[in-house]
Amino acid sequence: MSTATEPTTLMKQLVGKAAALRVQSGMIVGLGTGSTTAYAIQYIGERLKSGDLKDIKGIPTSFQSVVLAKELGIPLTTLDEVDRIDIAIDGADEVDPNKNLIKGGGAAHTREKIVDSLAEQFIVVVDASKLVDKLGSTFLLPVEVLPFALTPVMRALEKLGGKPQLRMGVKKAGPVITDQGNFVIDVKFEAIDNPAELEKTLNNIPGVLENGLFVGLTDLVLVGEIKDGQPTVREI
Ligand code: 5RP
Repeated sequence: MSTATEPTTLMKQLVGKAAALRVQSGMIVGLGTGSTTAYAIQYIGERLKSGDLKDIKGIPTSFQSVVLAKELGIPLTTLDEVDRIDIAIDGADEVDPNKNLIKGGGAAHTREKIVDSLAEQFIVVVDASKLVDKLGSTFLLPVEVLPFALTPVMRALEKLGGKPQLRMGVKKAGPVITDQGNFVIDVKFEAIDNPAELEKTLNNIPGVLENGLFVGLTDLVLVGEIKDGQPTVREI
């Protein structure tokens, strides 16, 4: 993991640590995906190792969080084995003033939405660059789609006024394949005025598994900021 001292990394580390400190012994913890959450997972692992934290179990939201948790010795469980998730910690690509989110930059939003929505407390960890006035202003909206339905879903997204593009792999020829074996379409919408309505409309297109709009799920946002040259955490 990066130990660089560039401001964004410092902010991510700080919010990751702040979120990890909210985990208590005995908790079932949703482990999100992405570079910011990775710091939270790292600090949870360190607290476990030092004995500061005991008897926790993680529910991972991606292969990334499975691998990381295993490396750090965090015991894992599944949704079939628990009757609750006490806390979930996850990153975001955009956060609006109502704490609604765009997620899916890591193509993990389908499992993330399942785990984050089940958590008693859902904590979002971001650096200040993720705060926007309106969702869709800086980030394309990810939509996971069954490969079988790719073309009709692309057409349906265009009919809704979106500009869809199939997400392509990096260091992998062809499209990105999600942990479920599906494709991701990234969609540019000029303005997302009603995220709740768009979330439902998109999920109603046959072949769409899930989209990256997380509406009304967030309990707390921890924002990493640099103030007077010092990295700080602000709570929203
Ligand atoms: C993965 C996600 C990530 O949480 C989101 O992309 C933020 O990642 P990062 O903390 O690396 O900016 O939604 O699907």
